[in-house]
Amino acid sequence: MAINFKGKTALISGAAGGIGLALAQALGQKGMNIVLADIDTIQLDRAVETLRQQGIRCFASQLDVTEYTQWQAAVEAAVNEFGGLHMLINNAGVGGVSGTIEDTNHDTWRWVVDVNLMGVLYGTQAATPALKQTGEGGWIVNVASMAGMMGVPYSSAYAATKAAVVSMSESWMAELAPHNIHVSVLCPAFVKTRIHESMRNLQDKYKPEQGTMDSKKLNLGLNKAAALVESGISTELLANRVLEALESGQHYIFTHPNYRPAVKGRAAALDKAFEDAQNSPLVGHLIDQEIARL
Ligand SMILES: NC(=O)c1ccc[n+]([C@@H]2O[C@H](COP(=O)([O-])OP(=O)(O)OC[C@H]3O[C@@H](n4cnc5c(N)ncnc54)[C@H](O)[C@@H]3O)[C@@H](O)[C@H]2O)c1
Repeated sequence: MAINFKGKTALISGAAGGIGLALAQALGQKGMNIVLADIDTIQLDRAVETLRQQGIRCFASQLDVTEYTQWQAAVEAAVNEFGGLHMLINNAGVGGVSGTIEDTNHDTWRWVVDVNLMGVLYGTQAATPALKQTGEGGWIVNVASMAGMMGVPYSSAYAATKAAVVSMSESWMAELAPHNIHVSVLCPAFVKTRIHESMRNLQDKYKPEQGTMDSKKLNLGLNKAAALVESGISTELLANRVLEALESGQHYIFTHPNYRPAVKGRAAALDKAFEDAQNSPLVGHLIDQEIARL
């Protein structure tokens, strides 16, 4: 049976452009009220204008996802304006800076962790009481990445935070199921957006000291990322795929079936590691022990 989204409310972070805006539009066209939240207020106002012209009920909420109090204000505004909150989409994310281990800058690594990981925690923590409050159940969609399913050389901060988002989502799936809150994790490969230009949103608090970043290397990385992103699918296609997956209750939302062999290869390597452990004279006997759970 098709889900009736009409009259329900979604709060979407990073909704001023890219994937967030496409999701806002797709859900708005299904009759949802939308709170578009973003750090980029200029793009945010434009996005709200575009959606309103399409007859979508929405408003803008200025939000830096690394600030918990701003998340609390966004949730409060959603509930005050629309009477409740049914869906949270933790979409805001940054690509970070690619480079070797030796070139890694601690400030920009922390930026990626704070936006991509802590931002998702803060959003979920701020929104969960409101999602439970309606008593009607709801949805949390966390935007991870195919990078969360495997390591990515020269982009360890991005891959680490996206793997964390997959893991957080899996934990919350079980935790929130009794409240009829469906948690999904979206793992796209490349999508045509401005993700390769994420540095435009680098907050002052994460700006590295002058001269600590090699601009030549930085530009090389950015050019490569731009070409990959340009080869990606459209945000409209991605948004329709998300709706399709939500309609059929999928928890893991994949958009690129061509990555299946890569993920299968990782699963096979993990399985082989279990086999090695089972064959080990040291720990093999643990095979019969019951798994301890919280
Ligand atoms: N584009 C891809 O190829 C791709 C692939 C896999 C996953 N993703 C993920 O999709 C999500 C959306 O990214 P996108 O591709 O649309 O990129 P994008 O750069 O086009 O959009 C990101 C949005 O997040 C906002 N944002 C950045 N920092 C923020 C902060 N601190 N607080 C609030 N908003 C902030 C930006 O202003 C922008 O509107 C990200 O989580 C990204 O990691 C993207």
